[in-house]
Amino acid sequence: MSAKLAASILTADFTRLGEEVAAAERAGVDWIHVDVMDGHFVPNLSFGPLVAQALRRATSLPLDVHLMVTRPENLIAAFVDAGAASITVQVEACTHLQRTVQQIRDLGVRPGVALNPATSLSTLDEILPELDMVLIMSVNPGFGGQVYLPGSTRKIARLRHWLDEAGLAGVDIEVDGGIKADNAAGVIAAGASVLVVGSAVFSGKAPVAENVAVLRSRFG
Ligand code: DX5
Ligand code: ZN
Repeated sequence: MSAKLAASILTADFTRLGEEVAAAERAGVDWIHVDVMDGHFVPNLSFGPLVAQALRRATSLPLDVHLMVTRPENLIAAFVDAGAASITVQVEACTHLQRTVQQIRDLGVRPGVALNPATSLSTLDEILPELDMVLIMSVNPGFGGQVYLPGSTRKIARLRHWLDEAGLAGVDIEVDGGIKADNAAGVIAAGASVLVVGSAVFSGKAPVAENVAVLRSRFG
């Protein structure tokens, strides 16, 4: 089984962000994952639509925006204007989830919903058929470089089984956090179709191209 590689810029060198993203594109990643954090929903503050606009000028790859923010409905239009191809909101942050998902789709962008590690799949009961993607957080959101939570694998497999049974096999399962060369194959075998990789692509001694090649050798 193969999967898409979404490179998260959270651990990229921000003094050379354009070069880092161009190197990732040359190396063959599929998407650029944009981790938006508001310092409220998660204990970290990252970047906003202006950085997404800059990324749009630096790469032709789809921008996969992950809103780890409270009240994400207030930021959707700005990230669509910035060129997002997909926007994923945290289920825990959405009082009116169907309205928010509809807002994303009405603006012509792929809607996704993310679940934190302790959030049950059952929170998707009423919304699953309206989604293009479900993002399974395999770390507690807020920082790159964390360790994959092993219980995530069973959650991914249960979600893949549910989607297949419901005739929704086309819905992507994106897995986000702690993905490395040594665990990628198991995450894909469980049913993931997109893997977010941050520190295993951008931080460390090896060049981006080498890191991506090592990961790709495990992606199938
Ligand atoms: C964490 C972010 C993840 C993270 C992945 O809150 O959502 O996308 O950047 O980084 P690594 O691959 O280093 O865990
Ligand atoms: Zn993310």
